[in-house]
Amino acid sequence: MKNAPKMFFATAALFALCGMVWGIQMSATHDHALSPAHGHLNLIGFVMMSVFGTYYALTPHAGRSRAAGFHYLLTTGAVLVLTPGIALAISGQTEVLAQIGSVLAVLTVALFGFVVLKYGVGHTSHEAGSDSGMTTQPAE
Ligand code: HEM
Repeated sequence: MKNAPKMFFATAALFALCGMVWGIQMSATHDHALSPAHGHLNLIGFVMMSVFGTYYALTPHAGRSRAAGFHYLLTTGAVLVLTPGIALAISGQTEVLAQIGSVLAVLTVALFGFVVLKYGVGHTSHEAGSDSGMTTQPAE
């Protein structure tokens, strides 16, 4: 994927902006009924995406992989399905979107685990010649 950290961070900022405007709207109207949907938009859309963006910034060879592109689409899709899904479930309409979004959210974390195990963390193993999975800085 091209520019994986930038894509993850930019999308995280967009989700945070939406989530915060929604939070202000909830506060202003004193209607907190949909706060779980707001919470998940912020936590998966902003916090989790930022964690993934940080990982791909630390691990550029993972960021360039096709798995990173798929991971980006999966995480974005999970947020876009789960957030309205929770709102619809709370308002008693349908639980189907929340169920699909939950599965997508679980898959995105499973894929993250797979990517970390496959590519390590930092300029790893195959690049640095170590099998520790961690970055090794040259001695000063
Ligand atoms: C402008 C910024 C924000 C405003 C005005 C705002 C406002 C609110 C309000 C009014 C509630 C309902 C509280 C209640 O009913 O007890 C809430 C809940 C929540 N917010 Fe925010 N929020 C903001 C940003 C964030 C951010 C950045 C995050 C996470 C990174 C976040 C996570 C949550 C969570 C986890 C809940 C609880 C959800 C639940 O009850 O299930 N919020 N927020």
